[in-house]
Amino acid sequence: MNRRISASILAADFCRLGAELARVSNADLIHFDVMDGHFVPNISFGLPVIEAVSRCTEVPLDVHLMIEQPERYLDAFAAVQPEIITVHYEAVVHLQSTLRRIRELGCKAGVSLNPHTPLEGLRYVLDDLDLILIMTVNPGFGGQQFIPAMLGKIRDCRELISGRPIEIQVDGGVSLENISRLAEAGATNFVAGSAIFQAPDPAAYISQMRSA
Ligand code: DX5
Ligand code: ZN
Repeated sequence: MNRRISASILAADFCRLGAELARVSNADLIHFDVMDGHFVPNISFGLPVIEAVSRCTEVPLDVHLMIEQPERYLDAFAAVQPEIITVHYEAVVHLQSTLRRIRELGCKAGVSLNPHTPLEGLRYVLDDLDLILIMTVNPGFGGQQFIPAMLGKIRDCRELISGRPIEIQVDGGVSLENISRLAEAGATNFVAGSAIFQAPDPAAYISQMRSA
């Protein structure tokens, strides 16, 4: 599977979002961290921002819902036609039907696991999944430090999916410094916020992430 880079706009300058998007136009995906102040201790942005962004970029959208009861909002987020909608394992009671609904809405279905959440719960929904997001920090804030123990979890995840065409995405503290180790462990899709937007040339940084 080709390596894909998802630029997290949480680290962008929201005063000049249009210009920020232009700086990352070579990304494979634009990543949106939607936070509700309940599932995570932070509040970020919601649908109006994603809608606005969808009108001024050609890059496919990657929506990461860090919210409780995400199933209540699937139709609303799917209306902006993101490529991927990811829900948190810990926030969903009926995971299989939630994933099925995401696909029915025409999007790829992702599940995210907090660092302490075991992979085992995904075993029986692997055929309902397009992407597994291994959180490499505790979700809620950008700019945190990557948790090294997640390398082993990525390896275990690669084994669990045993050849299925499922992307393994990592999110949190990802940079040029650790991307090779993450890729070696089995990750194929890399979310980065701070590292990309703090780089002097974000587009060049994204290219380097792809080839590092
Ligand atoms: C963390 C978010 C991440 C965040 C990553 O809760 O899920 O997507 O934007 O930010 P960095 O790359 O700054 O760690
Ligand atoms: Zn995220």
